[in-house]
Amino acid sequence: MPTERPVQEFAPAKINLSLHVTGRRSDGYHLLDSLVVFADVGDHLQVTTASETRVSVTGPRADGVPDDARNLVWKAADHFGQPADITLYKHLPAAAGIGGGSSDAAAVLRALAQATGRSIPPGTDRLGADLPVCIAPQAARMQGVGELITPLPPLPAIHAVLVNPGVEVATPKVFAALRSTDNPPMFETLPQWPDAATLAQWLRGTRNDLEPPSVLLAPVIGDVLTRLRREPECLLARMSGSGATCFALTTTRARAEAMAARIAVPGWWVQPVTLT
Ligand code: C5P
Repeated sequence: MPTERPVQEFAPAKINLSLHVTGRRSDGYHLLDSLVVFADVGDHLQVTTASETRVSVTGPRADGVPDDARNLVWKAADHFGQPADITLYKHLPAAAGIGGGSSDAAAVLRALAQATGRSIPPGTDRLGADLPVCIAPQAARMQGVGELITPLPPLPAIHAVLVNPGVEVATPKVFAALRSTDNPPMFETLPQWPDAATLAQWLRGTRNDLEPPSVLLAPVIGDVLTRLRREPECLLARMSGSGATCFALTTTRARAEAMAARIAVPGWWVQPVTLT
């Protein structure tokens, strides 16, 4: 019997430290090779099994987020086959390259698994390419079109500043604007990194192939990257996903907080974070 007690879940922001586009399938979806981590900032959800699904959206980033069947959290309840009463406290910007919607949907699936004692039905990638990696939010290599997930051993402590300049970038448009879709993958086997500086150094040999087309579509992303790369504590600055959110890696949380305080541009979402 499903429990009718509310289950609380955290839906962390997903960050693509690298994102290589290595091919294109006949259905138009792209093959990816990505190093994915999660931040300690995200959305919060309360999920209770119910006779009909109902979604309410609140929080600082609730504006414009649908509270009906268009919301991925609703589709997640349908996918699980368990109607639910879902309250979504939205903190992450939408359509931002940090997997907000996918992480929310994954959180609903985890909550329903806990409430019902059933396991999450397969095929979550049908809800979105970022769904599978968000189901167990921890450092992972993501391949295929997003459905092949290899969990990684814990990474060294890494900190970052996330910056979103307030523009929404449509993922399909970014993929469509790619000049080349058969780029080299990441290295065959990933090394172990003793500290953040070594990881950042290694990441310099990787790419986000979606960054150039996103910068073309939304030049303000280029402004964000230039601003971050000027910061003395910035080990590496790059865009996450299809943007527009960018990150700057730092060695300590204090450095991330100091950098975030300096980048106070009106209209920009700026967040110091720790990544795991
Ligand atoms: O699956 P999701 O809704 O996140 O994907 C949004 C769009 O991004 C897809 O419709 C597709 O155009 C593009 N995409 C892709 N290859 C992927 C993931 C997404 O082409 N691996």
